[in-house]
Amino acid sequence: MRPAPSLERRNTSKDTHMARHLITSAIPYINGIKHLGNLVGSQLPADLYARYLRQRGHEVLFLCATDEHGTPAELAAAKAGKPVAEYCAEMHSVQADIADGFGLSFDHFGRSSSPQNHALTQQFAGRLADMGLIREVTEDMVYSNADGRFLPDRYIEGTCPNCGFDSARGDQCDNCTKQLDPTDLIDPRSTISGSTDLEVRTTKHLYLRQSELKDDLAAWIESKTDWPVLTTSIAKKWLNDGDGLQDRGITRDLDWGIPVKKGDADWPGMEGKVFYVWFDAPIEYIACAQEWEAAGKGTDWARWWRTDKGADDVTYTQFMGKDNVPFHTLSFPATIKGTQEPWKLVDYIKSFNYLNYDGGQFSTSRGRGVFMDQALEILPADYWRWWLLSHAPESSDAEFTWEAFQTDVNKDLADVLGNFVSRITKFCRSKFGEAVPEAGTQGPDEEALIAALTTRIRAFEQHMDNREVRKSAAELRAIWVLGNEYLQEQAPWTTIKTDPDRAAMQVRTGLNLIRLYAVLSAAFIPDASKTMLDAMQTDDASWPNDVAAAMTALRAGHAFTVPENLFRKLTDDEREEWAERFAGTRD
Ligand code: 2FM
Ligand code: ZN
Repeated sequence: MRPAPSLERRNTSKDTHMARHLITSAIPYINGIKHLGNLVGSQLPADLYARYLRQRGHEVLFLCATDEHGTPAELAAAKAGKPVAEYCAEMHSVQADIADGFGLSFDHFGRSSSPQNHALTQQFAGRLADMGLIREVTEDMVYSNADGRFLPDRYIEGTCPNCGFDSARGDQCDNCTKQLDPTDLIDPRSTISGSTDLEVRTTKHLYLRQSELKDDLAAWIESKTDWPVLTTSIAKKWLNDGDGLQDRGITRDLDWGIPVKKGDADWPGMEGKVFYVWFDAPIEYIACAQEWEAAGKGTDWARWWRTDKGADDVTYTQFMGKDNVPFHTLSFPATIKGTQEPWKLVDYIKSFNYLNYDGGQFSTSRGRGVFMDQALEILPADYWRWWLLSHAPESSDAEFTWEAFQTDVNKDLADVLGNFVSRITKFCRSKFGEAVPEAGTQGPDEEALIAALTTRIRAFEQHMDNREVRKSAAELRAIWVLGNEYLQEQAPWTTIKTDPDRAAMQVRTGLNLIRLYAVLSAAFIPDASKTMLDAMQTDDASWPNDVAAAMTALRAGHAFTVPENLFRKLTDDEREEWAERFAGTRD
């Protein structure tokens, strides 16, 4: 993956209160390329936050990985006609490249199938057993005569007993998010063969006794008064229904996965079984830090994850879509708490609603909507990053439409920001040459501009610190608009006719605004930000703690170049072509 972005390396001024931040994004399933709705629900906002905190001088460990076990991986590998391990290795590298293309600045992009996660998952299970929190259950499971095997999770579909949705999966209903067991489904059928020749057979599995931890978890959730309502309301719903805390099966009859062991030792009676994907996936958040260390990218993973080894001063934020919330607010904390070992618990869970696509849903199976690889084929990452982040589905579901995308990109990026940069630099070059002009001194208009910028920048910081993505984007846009308004009102192209010194000062102010915008916009649109900074020929990407000082960072005589157009306008023809192309055919 790409290393810490250039802007962050250029930043020399450290915040006085440097803190340590662990950030994880929900780890995407290995089976296929994710769509833009997946991206905006976890990886992208996590990246925004990680980049911002690095810029502010904090120490950040930003981790993500692929979620490689379970039925989704097996099914996809079978469909691709490949051994599942080979399929996963290939898809990991595909997802890593695409993440890189979007500028996702993971410190490590791991794999839940790593040796580290195998060992750690088995260690967790052994410890939970030692703590008396695992019980063996003899249970009835659905067996498919046609397929000659048990049908766990996604190998079985049927009608949701909770909401009546007719394509609920064996582990969860996508319509109402209820966690299910395969035997709960009404009118079940095999997703391998479509067969309804199913019978119930007896098998043995391990259950995590989450119910023992109910009071502890309830008090913990209750104490999280600053968490998004979306997160706590989902957690409380499952807690109060008792649903999320029923003891949970953590093993499956599958070949592909982490073999059930008690630490290093065999687990009698569990031969041939693997851990349930939702048991090992969140443990990968920890294993990923071990992989990061093993890859030589850092040292001392435990400093981030063990409160007895320095992680007590870490702030840990998780990003995820709302369907992942029950697992992160209840199941994974139950795993962690149950060990009574000093593991770091999450401090803040930022969850997102869904992004819909053009009057319906994104659909992986029907290829409806834009997938991450396709998005990068048609436009550079910054166009998508800006639009998605500025429309992040925080308080409710949001919708991608091509009309909105075209309008917003053309207005915010091309007209407001791009045009500003282009006008100032071109005007300066034609009237004063390619260096910051010297004449004139700032007056009340510039003081007013600096005051307005200061107010907005402080608000921007507040929103970013609070992980309020849309509000941050709106504030950033307003900061860009201030520059445009200044330029429009001051009109140096007119001033120059009567007062060339003043025009020089206005242009100097404008050039400094470009550098300021590069710094403030970096977490949203890192490539454009780098272009601006390169054009201003400066390494000074220090955060504008003092806005007045930031507005004189580029001194008279400092050379610059006119950058290529930062953003182009999207045409009506393109919009129509794309709307048709992504309406849904991809297999
Ligand atoms: O919903 C998903 O895409 C899951 N693969 C997320 C797992 S997040 C975590 F627990 F690892
Ligand atoms: Zn349902």
